[in-house]
Amino acid sequence: MRKKIRLVIVGAGVIGSHHGKVINELSNEIELAGVVDVDLAKAQALASSRGSAAFVSLKDALAQAEFEAVAVCTPTGTHAEVAIEALNAGKHVIIEKPAEVSLEKTDAIIEAQRNAGTVVTVITQHRFDPATEILLEAIDKGELGRLTSGIASIDWWRSQDYYDSAGTGAALGTWMAADR
Ligand SMILES: NC(=O)c1ccc[n+]([C@@H]2O[C@H](COP(=O)([O-])OP(=O)(O)OC[C@H]3O[C@@H](n4cnc5c(N)ncnc54)[C@H](O)[C@@H]3O)[C@@H](O)[C@H]2O)c1
Repeated sequence: MRKKIRLVIVGAGVIGSHHGKVINELSNEIELAGVVDVDLAKAQALASSRGSAAFVSLKDALAQAEFEAVAVCTPTGTHAEVAIEALNAGKHVIIEKPAEVSLEKTDAIIEAQRNAGTVVTVITQHRFDPATEILLEAIDKGELGRLTSGIASIDWWRSQDYYDSAGTGAALGTWMAADR
């Protein structure tokens, strides 16, 4: 049997908890080796439900746990520092989107990956949506002619439960007003 990949989640918020659920579903392939969050209670809540260890920093996890991979689920704009620390320790890294907020920080991740020789990937799950694949195939076949620019627009529905799950209590209307 293939050896399970031991993975540490850094950031036990909305998406970090989702990574926890997915790891449960892939329990033949992946094992949760630990959860890191600057808020230890959040790390403990996610880790303990899966019999795993909680840490307040990646540094502590690196010192105390054995694992091959790190999922970076911290807020946007903090991904490079976590990813680079993990890469410098020789780990494979999965980064939640967006990789980073500037070219400089993204280049720094790439440089750390080249030095480490491990794998880095960024989660952009909609690249696998049927609509994306149909569009790419049409472009590849030249069905849309020579593309010179593009404008994409997507209608997505998020229920109030989605916003409540962030624990912010934000109402859908509040978010829409703030975002426009
Ligand atoms: N792929 C998707 O569909 C999807 C969906 C939601 C969010 N995201 C991405 O995931 C990331 C996190 O979003 P979220 O909604 O889960 O945020 P969140 O605020 O719910 O969770 C972030 C967590 O990280 C912790 N944290 C902050 N800095 C840290 C650090 N240096 N080390 C350890 N823990 C730290 C916070 O305490 C918090 O618990 C964002 O970059 C976001 O774009 C992706």
